[in-house]
Amino acid sequence: MKNNRNTITICFTNNKGGSGKSTSCANLGYELSAAGKKVLLIDGDMQLNLSLSFFEEEKVLTMAESSRNLYYAIREKRDLAEYIISTDYQNLDLIPSSTLMSQVEYELFTMMQREFILKKCLHGIKSEGAYDYILIDAPPTLGAWVINILCASDYVIVPVEASPWGLFGLANMFDFLKELREVSDARIMGVLITKVDERKNYYRQTREILENYKEIHVFDSVIHVDSTVEWAQDASKPVAVYKKSARSAAEFKKLTEEVIGYGSR
Ligand SMILES: Nc1ncnc2c1ncn2[C@@H]1O[C@H](COP(=O)(O)OP(=O)(O)OP(=O)(O)O)[C@@H](O)[C@H]1O
Ligand SMILES: [Mg+2]
Repeated sequence: MKNNRNTITICFTNNKGGSGKSTSCANLGYELSAAGKKVLLIDGDMQLNLSLSFFEEEKVLTMAESSRNLYYAIREKRDLAEYIISTDYQNLDLIPSSTLMSQVEYELFTMMQREFILKKCLHGIKSEGAYDYILIDAPPTLGAWVINILCASDYVIVPVEASPWGLFGLANMFDFLKELREVSDARIMGVLITKVDERKNYYRQTREILENYKEIHVFDSVIHVDSTVEWAQDASKPVAVYKKSARSAAEFKKLTEEVIGYGSR
């Protein structure tokens, strides 16, 4: 049955490792679903962190070792609808990854129109209109696979850690995204400042530097360092489920409101 949702696809990209991509993707995904949006999460990284945010390690490894994961879907150019699994949460589904995703660059190399394989694999799901949002967690690289993720996305959220090296390489990444405009319609929705630690003063510095990029939106919401994030990940739960009163839970909820409101800006 055809639904009438206009699906918005957002990917989380930053070639700097550990900037908060997977954490933001998982918690924004959960909060969007809790706000009544129908959400599909795609774990695009061989580290399996997005899958681990919702499922225990044993189950994630079983999925990663089976043939029902993103790696095989891309290799065989299959309709991704066949690879969707439900999470414990209403309105929230996931396509799991595989440790074999490390080989996806090689698989893509020999394919025609290699930038658009993921986009084609997602075509059925998008035209079905079953989801309000598709969120894709990207690995910390900028190769052919990340280009695929960007070509399949409408928007990019760039999580940046408020730390001395958090901005290092960011200008290159913005240039890379600009160059990609020839093949990708993806636009930067916003930069999200993450892991803000009030005992250090990198936050102000980070925001000031980011504000020099006049054409790039910086979300008002920021995510502070919060040990609940790690406890929740250890329990394979979104922060808000693990501890509703956590500061970061409120921050991800606020970010979600900004993302939902983005279309009406
Ligand atoms: N707000 C936070 N407070 C405390 N720890 C955090 C917070 N956000 C993320 N972390 C921790 O920082 C680490 C990196 O976060 P995350 O995995 O989300 O980054 P990433 O950009 O996806 O990393 P990678 O580039 O390796 O994919 C993780 O161990 C996570 O638990
Ligand atoms: Mg990650």
